[in-house]
Amino acid sequence: MDVSKIREDFPLLKNRDIIYLDNAATSQKPAAVLDAEKRFYEKYNANPFRGLYELSEEATECYEEARKTVADFLHASCPEEIIFTRNATESLNLAAYTLSEYLLKPGDEIIVSIMEHHSNILPWQQAAKRYGATVKYLECDMDGTIPAERLENMITPHTKIAAITQISNVLGCKNDLKTFAEICHRHGVILVGDGAQSVPHIKVDVQDLGVDFLSFSGRRSVMLQAPAAGAGVPATADRLPGYARQFFGNCPQQNRLCSPVSRSNVLPRRKI
Ligand SMILES: Cc1ncc(COP(=O)(O)O)c(C=O)c1O
Repeated sequence: MDVSKIREDFPLLKNRDIIYLDNAATSQKPAAVLDAEKRFYEKYNANPFRGLYELSEEATECYEEARKTVADFLHASCPEEIIFTRNATESLNLAAYTLSEYLLKPGDEIIVSIMEHHSNILPWQQAAKRYGATVKYLECDMDGTIPAERLENMITPHTKIAAITQISNVLGCKNDLKTFAEICHRHGVILVGDGAQSVPHIKVDVQDLGVDFLSFSGRRSVMLQAPAAGAGVPATADRLPGYARQFFGNCPQQNRLCSPVSRSNVLPRRKI
């Protein structure tokens, strides 16, 4: 690997004589990403989705293209699964607020592993408090692994949601979310995965993984400059209340707020 050649792609690393090691918190951006952002503001910036004029339509197309790029990156089954949020914390709060609203009642249980970032603990503790549910903590072994049977043994008929990270920022270990998703779904439990450390680090295929939601932050991945995104499975998205659906892609059934106005029936769409 030619490190000096890779550094050439990153203006900050060309401008500063440093070795940057804090990619788990935020990554440096390659010139291609910075150029695309600049190009957008210089050529296409307008209010997307809500303007009956050409520039707004073009901004909408750019926005939806970005959603498609993220969907392809994660191998999501369609762009409408991608919800743009400000960061992983907001994605997890969105999942917690909306899922708890239609799933939880007094006596229900939420499983959270002990290696979670605070962003994947506090929203579930607050949801449990709001609906009289209980948070149960899934322990790991001394080497950081969570045996799948431990998760399965913890699930009871009252368990509605499990929230588990794919790679832990606390221990650096990787959880087998694919097996966890199979176990959860066998028992009718929704699995919310936290991909904040895995999406920038390993290849993540959300269809193969099978989780119901996956949160992550665009700023940790040099590929993506999107503020952040969460990927969900449409079967679950369909059952979300209206508040949550407005965050989904430009899909007529799901996205009431973002698709009330369109010029496309009146004027031909231009390729930009
Ligand atoms: C595993 C994990 N989950 C969630 C978060 C929160 O991410 P954000 O800062 O994008 O809200 C972090 C942040 O470091 C993290 O490492």
